[in-house]
Amino acid sequence: MKSSAVAKAAFAAEQSGGCPMPALEIENLSMRFETSEGPVTAVDDMSFDVPVGSFVSLIGPSGCGKSTVFNIVGGLLTGHTGSVRVGAETVTGPHRAIGMVFQEESTFPWRTVIDNVAFPLEVSGVGREERHEQARHFINMVGLHGFERRYPSELSGGMRQRVAIARTLAFQPSILLMDEPFAALDEQTRLLLGDKILQIQQDLKQTTMLITHNITEAVQLSDRIVVMTYRPGKVKRIIDVDLPRPRTSEVITSTAFGAYVAEVWNDLREEASRGMAEAEAATQTRPSRRS
Ligand SMILES: Nc1ncnc2c1ncn2[C@@H]1O[C@H](COP(=O)(O)OP(=O)(O)OP(=O)(O)O)[C@@H](O)[C@H]1O
Ligand SMILES: [Mg+2]
Repeated sequence: MKSSAVAKAAFAAEQSGGCPMPALEIENLSMRFETSEGPVTAVDDMSFDVPVGSFVSLIGPSGCGKSTVFNIVGGLLTGHTGSVRVGAETVTGPHRAIGMVFQEESTFPWRTVIDNVAFPLEVSGVGREERHEQARHFINMVGLHGFERRYPSELSGGMRQRVAIARTLAFQPSILLMDEPFAALDEQTRLLLGDKILQIQQDLKQTTMLITHNITEAVQLSDRIVVMTYRPGKVKRIIDVDLPRPRTSEVITSTAFGAYVAEVWNDLREEASRGMAEAEAATQTRPSRRS
């Protein structure tokens, strides 16, 4: 079920001749943290849109401010300047249109797969039979049919992340936010999970914002890639990925795919090198713990 704000935005898009309206608008976003070593500007004047039904990735080197943006957009972090808007509404805390998937494992170990996925429906007061039926739909969507009665400890890491994604989808969020959900997984599992995400994107036309540091993943999944600079995190460049949809992981063998990967890496290399140089300099100036 779409939130009224985003449904209104989608309706307005249709009325405006099909030009996609932004589901999410990030405007002049800045965030400064006060730390024991002084203030740290994590995010500096970032502006970008996530159009309705599109898949946008935010990519940047470690420590550039990606999770900070994720937490502000998800309404979990305040104290920023600038704005985050869902349709016409400004995000000031957790927003009903936004569902989040975190990097850390977040399944409930004491619940079976089906009861994990049905959790948001249970909280909303949906009866057992109905919520299990709906949960099965999302379990099938992430490719876990047959595992409904298993506990998270009986699954692989990739399967547990799929449970977390299915549970967030069961909220039926208009906007899905994911912060490096596949970071702990091996390359092959990531690519195949990418196929599941592409299938979901195709079936649900799910507006999605993915945080990642993986270039292949960003190009494989996205309509648009926002490349961030290393500290403070600014928008370095926005790249629209014009690869055909529906897509599968087969796309990674194409010449066009390789060209996008090279383009993103060209932008990122400088930032990642700067990050590494700063980290090395900090290690050298820090006093040794051994005395
Ligand atoms: N609560 C906080 N208090 C102080 N500083 C913070 C806080 N959260 C993040 N930072 C700082 O802000 C900067 C950006 O952090 P953030 O976690 O957003 O980076 P990231 O791009 O998600 O990194 P990674 O790829 O390693 O997950 C870092 O310098 C970090 O130390
Ligand atoms: Mg992070």
